[in-house]
Amino acid sequence: MSAHDHAHGHAHHGTEQPDWDALAPLLERGAELYAPVHEQAAAWLRERFAAGGGSVRRILDVGSGPGVVTCLLARAFPDAEVVAADGTPALLERARERAARLGLADRVTTLTVEMPEELDPATIGTADLIWSSRTVHHLGDQLDALRRLATALRPGGLLAVGEGGLPPRFLPRDAGLGRPDLSARLDVVQAEGFAEMRAGLPGATETVEDWPGLLTAAGLTGATSRSFLLDLPAPLDATARESLRTELAHRREAVADRLDDGDLAALDRLLDPEDEAGIMRRPDVFLLAAHTLHVAARTE
Ligand SMILES: C[S@@+](CC[C@H](N)C(=O)[O-])C[C@H]1O[C@@H](n2cnc3c(N)ncnc32)[C@H](O)[C@@H]1O
Repeated sequence: MSAHDHAHGHAHHGTEQPDWDALAPLLERGAELYAPVHEQAAAWLRERFAAGGGSVRRILDVGSGPGVVTCLLARAFPDAEVVAADGTPALLERARERAARLGLADRVTTLTVEMPEELDPATIGTADLIWSSRTVHHLGDQLDALRRLATALRPGGLLAVGEGGLPPRFLPRDAGLGRPDLSARLDVVQAEGFAEMRAGLPGATETVEDWPGLLTAAGLTGATSRSFLLDLPAPLDATARESLRTELAHRREAVADRLDDGDLAALDRLLDPEDEAGIMRRPDVFLLAAHTLHVAARTE
């Protein structure tokens, strides 16, 4: 799973919206764990620009969170200035610290933006590449958000929206912890939490989530999708196990009231660092997931 996947259902000021400040370490670790996926996606975008002869001078990472991907994009596009844009100042602080640590402070800056209101060129400027991963689904009217982002694209620029893919798998179907298919049941309760999160958003609008169709409706052309695999076979290293365990702990918290006692007991064993059947010790833990990137261009 990735951090965003269980960022739903955490009560925040009495709503079902995530508490982004509290999720900072989780978002950071999650993005680091999924770095191979983001690197593949960035390489694909770089190839697209190279094939089209377009240069990339300014990149906006909209909904950047703690800036893990922002910095990765800065490395993938060494001639570009990259702006991490997000509504959570504490996350942008982390992005600045990360950029400084990685020697990227001269090209990576941050911008506090309230979405969707401030997604306009007067606030965020224009860019050759706008990357927005796992963020548009946190805005009530997703098509409206894409339309706003499209207005900030320079001619020849690309809008790359990371949404959807395949839910992660990390255990055998029968993991010896009671009823098989725990992951499938976690997916179901997660989807319920996601739907509630969306329904609670300001201006929530039901949309057929045909992302290429939405990008086209936003006035962009050549919409296409590609998925990138995170394939970490068993046995996972300690860092990946720790990330997975932390994420699973948050996920348990978010969905506890939707699971039966058997599944909660299985999760407790998985989370116990001393348990031979837990994520930290069992030999068969792996991580397999796919993230999809939907890309379209502004031609005129
Ligand atoms: C799930 S995180 C995605 C982080 C990062 N792009 C990634 O893929 O790991 C969503 C981000 O969107 C930001 N966000 C959500 N709703 C927002 C809003 N209405 N205005 C500004 N930022 C918002 C949050 O602060 C958070 O950093």
